[in-house]
Amino acid sequence: MANLKVKYLGTAFANPTVLASGVTGVTASTWKSVVRSGAGGITTKSIWLNEHKGHPNPTIITTEHWMMNAVGLPDAGLNKAVEEIAEYEKDKPAPLIASIVGGNEEEFIKIAEKMATLPIDILEINISCPNVEDEFGLPFACVATDAKRITQAVKKVAGNKPVVIKLSPNVTRITEIAEACAQGGADGFCLINTLGPGLYINLELRMPVLANKVGGISGPAIKPLAVKMVHDVYKATGLPIIGTGGVTTGKDALEMMMAGATLVGMGSAVYYRGIDVFRKVANEISEWCDKNGVKNVEEIIGTVKM
Ligand SMILES: Cc1cc2nc3c(=O)[nH]c(=O)nc-3n(C[C@H](O)[C@H](O)[C@H](O)COP(=O)(O)O)c2cc1C
Repeated sequence: MANLKVKYLGTAFANPTVLASGVTGVTASTWKSVVRSGAGGITTKSIWLNEHKGHPNPTIITTEHWMMNAVGLPDAGLNKAVEEIAEYEKDKPAPLIASIVGGNEEEFIKIAEKMATLPIDILEINISCPNVEDEFGLPFACVATDAKRITQAVKKVAGNKPVVIKLSPNVTRITEIAEACAQGGADGFCLINTLGPGLYINLELRMPVLANKVGGISGPAIKPLAVKMVHDVYKATGLPIIGTGGVTTGKDALEMMMAGATLVGMGSAVYYRGIDVFRKVANEISEWCDKNGVKNVEEIIGTVKM
């Protein structure tokens, strides 16, 4: 049996699959049940400083090839997250990546300062959500100088926590943004956040299906774009990557890793294959490795011949 263990920014993961931010519950007990379903690690839903309401329903559409969501980053705020992280720590079954989000630099700094004192393994900075633009304007991840400024500000207060920047696909040149974050001190990247926003119309009503009108696109259809962007950022920066976007099978995960990802995030896959998609994908990775003489899955990272 192939060894599926991977090390990411100093933390050991039992296998490369991690729950992507935002896709299932926000409590310690849900995170633990996702680990029981085979995930190598957990990313929390993006945590705000204060309670954040999100958008009205309907907020999610699922089709055969893609999903669209405008949940709008609802969250109970930092104090509640601190309680859940403490609860998870009691008998922590797998590494925890805390995703944080803010409307401005000061909010990012306040949350990161607190996170530096908590038992989390990695800090993920969500500067790339496309469906809160009406509240906050263009995401920081879409402008290189903004992305660098937030990275620098968070790094200054993050203590010994590795800082991973979550990048947006909604840019002309993602390598330019990644290089700016690397200059700002980023330790790694998670990419991609959702694509778009997109629009889906109900023909009979002649109205958008989502109450928010537009939403971020995820799921199988975005995978080729995500794989290409992971490859580009890996080549440009050499920093370790959590490859995310459309991964639903072991083969998808292996593609992400060959493109340069160390860990593989899965979100929409939970809707397509159920919560135990993590175990299914880990088993499929293992089978492929065994058939192809790969003893340690880490061997395949970044090995695509271009
Ligand atoms: C319902 C839903 C909620 C999400 N919430 C967050 C979030 O809170 N923070 C974040 O960084 N990304 C969020 N995302 C984006 C995912 O983490 C991921 O980057 C994206 O969906 C692409 O991966 P996937 O195709 O595996 O879903 C969300 C995605 C979905 C579908």
